[in-house]
Amino acid sequence: VNGQAHKLALRTWGRKRFPLPSVALASGKGGVGKTSLSCSLAVSFARQGRRVLLLDLDLGLANVDMVLGLAPRATVADLLTGECSLDECLVRGPEGILVLPAASGAAELAAASLGDRNRLLECLADAGERADVIVADLGAGVAHGVLELVALADLALIVTTPEPTAFTDAYALAKLLLQRDRRVAERIKLVVNRSASHDESVSVAHRLARVARQFLGFELETVGHVPEDPAAARGVLRRQAFAVAEPDAKASRAVARLARELASRLGLGSGLSAPVLGVEA
Ligand SMILES: Nc1ncnc2c1ncn2[C@@H]1O[C@H](COP(=O)(O)OP(=O)(O)O)[C@@H](O)[C@H]1O
Ligand SMILES: [Mg+2]
Repeated sequence: VNGQAHKLALRTWGRKRFPLPSVALASGKGGVGKTSLSCSLAVSFARQGRRVLLLDLDLGLANVDMVLGLAPRATVADLLTGECSLDECLVRGPEGILVLPAASGAAELAAASLGDRNRLLECLADAGERADVIVADLGAGVAHGVLELVALADLALIVTTPEPTAFTDAYALAKLLLQRDRRVAERIKLVVNRSASHDESVSVAHRLARVARQFLGFELETVGHVPEDPAAARGVLRRQAFAVAEPDAKASRAVARLARELASRLGLGSGLSAPVLGVEA
């Protein structure tokens, strides 16, 4: 990106949005469960009667298709280059969710210049005909490309685990987002994953909220607590999201609660277009 375009990109950062109510899952540290949660969250939204578009926007390690056991025909890279149309790239996943698979090491996206971000939005412009809500799985870290994508979502969920390194990196990500533009503050929310108990999860959330308040002057609200659950690891082995393989597992129930919480914050209403299967009370 040249200097001028870069300045423009920074100026408009945080104003452009996905064309639908949207959540993005980001994290400072890798391996905290973004992809697992994205897939199960997408499935939960679908069970609650929403049409879901799950975007795999992990620039480095694409694996939504792995977690869901899908065989992608085309990827977001083909979409961005104009090789394929949106419909040609989308694959149906469990509960009828639509998935836009990523290419591992998608260089086109990794560049993530203003042009790419606009191009992505352009390609998704009529996504509203196919879906009610977007779930975007992002790569870990604070690379420019990730920050660009986070800001496109109505709710940017920072995922952390109780591990000190994940905690520290979650804080670093929040700080960088705020430094870019304080107006994103109210869109940044926390999700604590893999805690041994609800108490531990709440205490992690409180600690992170305390440092955010003290050093960033910002109220970091927690929207979900997902416990450590062996169902998550079993799901990966079976190439099924845990919410699909074991809908009654603790983690699945927690993600279903998270989906309801997010739906209400996104103003998605009560989810009237319920699918035939798997309707949740
Ligand atoms: N709630 C959970 N309980 C147990 N294991 C989990 C949980 N969430 C994720 N995992 C495991 O953590 C690992 C990393 O998850 P993944 O979703 O790939 O993380 P990320 O996308 O953030 O890199 C996977 O092996 C997954 O099974
Ligand atoms: Mg991932």
